[in-house]
Amino acid sequence: MATPLLAALLVAALLASPAPEVSATGGTIVFTTLGRSRYSFDIFSLPLAPSPNPAEIRLTDGTSVNYNGNFAPGSDSVLFVSERNGSLNLYLSPVLSAAASSRREALEAAAAPLSPLLPWDPIALKDRPSLTPDGSHLVYVSTALPAAEPRRSWAAVYSTELSTGRTSRLTAPGVADFSPAVSPSGEWIAVASPGPAGWTGEVEDLRTDIYVFRTTDGSRRTLVIHDGGWPSWADESTVFFHRRDSVGWYGVYRARISVTDDGLSAVSVERVTPPGFHAFTPAASPGAPGLVAVATRRPGSDYRHIEVIDVSGGRTNAYFEVTRPVAPRGHHFNPFISPDGTRVGYHRCRGSGNGDSPLLLENIKSPGPDTFSLFRIDGSFPSFSHDGKRIAFVGLPGLYVVNSDGSGVRRRIFSGNAFPTSWDWKRKGVIYTSIGPDFASESTTVDVVSISLGDDEEDSNITMKKLTVGGENNAFPSPSPDGKWVVFRSGRSEHKNLYIMDAEHGEARGIRRLTEGPWSDTMCNWSPDGEWIAFASDRHNPGGGSFAIYMVHPNGTGLRRVVHSGDGGRTNHPWFSPDSKSLVFTSDYAAVSAEPVSNPHHYQPYGEIFTVDIDGSNIRRLTHNSFEDGTPSWTPYFLEPQDVGETLQASGRCSFQDCHWLNIQDTQSDELIYGASC
Ligand SMILES: *[C@@H]1O[C@H](CO)[C@@H](O)[C@H](O)[C@H]1NC(C)=O
Ligand SMILES: *[C@@H]1O[C@H](CO)[C@@H](O)[C@H](O)[C@H]1NC(C)=O
Ligand SMILES: *[C@@H]1O[C@H](CO)[C@@H](O)[C@H](O)[C@H]1NC(C)=O
Repeated sequence: MATPLLAALLVAALLASPAPEVSATGGTIVFTTLGRSRYSFDIFSLPLAPSPNPAEIRLTDGTSVNYNGNFAPGSDSVLFVSERNGSLNLYLSPVLSAAASSRREALEAAAAPLSPLLPWDPIALKDRPSLTPDGSHLVYVSTALPAAEPRRSWAAVYSTELSTGRTSRLTAPGVADFSPAVSPSGEWIAVASPGPAGWTGEVEDLRTDIYVFRTTDGSRRTLVIHDGGWPSWADESTVFFHRRDSVGWYGVYRARISVTDDGLSAVSVERVTPPGFHAFTPAASPGAPGLVAVATRRPGSDYRHIEVIDVSGGRTNAYFEVTRPVAPRGHHFNPFISPDGTRVGYHRCRGSGNGDSPLLLENIKSPGPDTFSLFRIDGSFPSFSHDGKRIAFVGLPGLYVVNSDGSGVRRRIFSGNAFPTSWDWKRKGVIYTSIGPDFASESTTVDVVSISLGDDEEDSNITMKKLTVGGENNAFPSPSPDGKWVVFRSGRSEHKNLYIMDAEHGEARGIRRLTEGPWSDTMCNWSPDGEWIAFASDRHNPGGGSFAIYMVHPNGTGLRRVVHSGDGGRTNHPWFSPDSKSLVFTSDYAAVSAEPVSNPHHYQPYGEIFTVDIDGSNIRRLTHNSFEDGTPSWTPYFLEPQDVGETLQASGRCSFQDCHWLNIQDTQSDELIYGASC
C-alpha cells in the first residue's frame, strides 16, 4: 500500500488558494500558539478487551504533535495528523502487523521516517484522515478553500484518489463539515456540520447536525440527525454520535439509519450513556460488534479517559476502563478501533523524555507567495528589538528577552504579570510594557512602565520606570518611531480609550487624549512611518464582546475601520508591517476548523493569524490549524525560515485541562453541577 500512498499528488488547480497580491513587505512575523509548547501528542493503542497486563503500544514516532488517528483498512497501519515541518499534514505510520505486538517491534517501526500522504501544498489544516475500505481513496478534512463569508469555517471534506492524486471536494459549497466517517461499505460518509446557519455564538455553543452523502461525489447530501457530532459507523445502518443534552451532559447515542430509494433517514435514535458524566467522541467498528469506545469525563476524575461500552442487546451496558489503569493521570482523546476489533487507539501526551529539542522559534509554513517568514514563539506578546537581534515576550507571568538566533539564555527581566511588549525606536534596550492583571476591568490597577536593559545581554543593570501613575488600567503601550511618544489605552474615564504621553518621562510630562467614547479602544500599535495608530475596538457594539480593527492618525483625524469579522466576531491585536501598508492580526475570521469538544485544550480555537492591507483589502490567512494562535508582531528583520532552538528546556508539559465547555451550571441556583475549569 505504501507506494501508491507516497505517490499521491493533489491536483493543484483544484485546491490552490486564489492568488493574493504580494505586498512588498518582507521581514518576519512572529506569533504565539497558546500552550503549544506544553503538549506533545502521540498515538497509542491498547487491547479492546480486558486483559491482565495490557501493553500500551506507541504507534507514532515521538516527534511533533501527532493526533486524530485512524487505522487503515485491512492492516494495523495508522493514519494520523501531524504538525511536523511547519504545517499540518497527514501521515501513515509504517506500523504494525498484528504480529508486531511487542513493544520493541512497534517502537522500531514507529521510528522509521515518515513521508506525508499529501504534498506540502496547499498549506491548510488537514484532519480526521480515513481510507475507503478498498484503500483507494483518502478522505479527510481540509481548510484549503476559503469560505465565502467571514466567520464561516473553511473546513470541508475532500477525497484524494491515491493512485492518481485526483482530489475532489465532497462538501457542498457554502457549508462546512467536520469529523468525516466512511461507512463500512465505503458508499457513504457521515459528517458533523454546523449547517447553513453557520456559527453564531461562543465556541461552547457550536452545534452541529449529522449529514450523510455519497463518498464518490458528495451527492445525496441528507440531514440525518439533528443535533449531533462525531459520527462513527458500527455497520452500514448504525451510527454512533455524541450530543449535549439540555442539562449540559455530553452523551453518546446510537442511530439506526435506513437507506431507501428516496434517500437516507434515521429510523431511531437512542441514548447509550446516561447523564451524570460526560461521554463523547464515540468509535465503533464492524470488527467489534456490540462495542463502542468513548472518551469520558467522570465526576471525581480530573482526566479524560477511554472506556469501552458493551451495548450488545438485552443487557445493561457494561463499561470497561481502557486507559485509566495504564495512565491514570493524563487526558486521552478521540478513540478509534482496529478493523479486526482487537485494539483501541487514541492520542495523549507522550509524557516526559520525548525526543523533541526545545524550540524558541518554530518555523511555520504559510500559504505563499510569501515575502516574509512566519514563526511561532514559545511565549506571548513577542516583539523584536529594532535591530532584529532580540525578542521580548511575556510568560504570563514574567517578561523575558532572548536573542533571536537562539544564542545565549532566556533572561527573565521582570517576574510579575506584564503584557504586552514593544521596543523604543531610538533608545536601545528600552522596552515598554504594562504591569498588572490582564483581561481586567477599567478600574483594575495596571500601569505602563519602561524597562531599560542596557545595550547588550551582559548588562545586568536593569531599571524600571513607571510612566503612568494612577493605575487606571493603563496598558498596551506602543512607542512612536521618532522616540518621543507612547500611545496606550487607559480606563481613566471609566471607559477604555487611547491616550498619548511622553515616552521618556511619562504622563507627568504631558498626556493627550486620542479617542473618546463609551466603549473599549485597546491593543494599539503605532505604524513605523508614524502616520497611523491601529487598535482594536468594540465601538460598533459597545460591550457586545465583538472587536474589530480601526486606525486613526496620531492627531486624531482619519478614523476608520479596517477589518471586522462580522457580528459577534473577534478581530484583535493589530501590528503594522515594516512598510506600514499592511497589518497582521488575530481573528476568528475563519471560525473553528474542528469540533471544539474533540480539541479541548484550546480556549479560543478559532484564533488564526491574518494580514490585511490598511485599506481593508487583500485579507490573507497565514495559519491553518485548530490551535489558538494570537498576539502577532512584524519586524523588517528577515529570519531564515528554519526552527531556532534554545538552551533552556521548556517545563510543565501537558499541564492543560479540558476546557470550560464541560461545565454544567444549575439554571436555578447558578451552582456548578459539574466543573472542569481551564
Ligand atoms: C521534516 O522534519 C523532520 C524532523 O522532524 C526532518 O528530519 C525532515 O528532514 C523534514 N522534512 C522536510 C521535507 O523538511
Ligand atoms: C543603571 O542604569 C541607570 C539608568 O540607565 C543609571 O542611572 C545608573 O547609574 C546605572 N547604575 C549602574 C550601577 O550602572
Ligand atoms: C493629521 O495627520 C495627518 C497624517 O499625518 C495629516 O495628513 C493631516 O493633515 C493632519 N490633520 C491635521 C488637522 O493636523
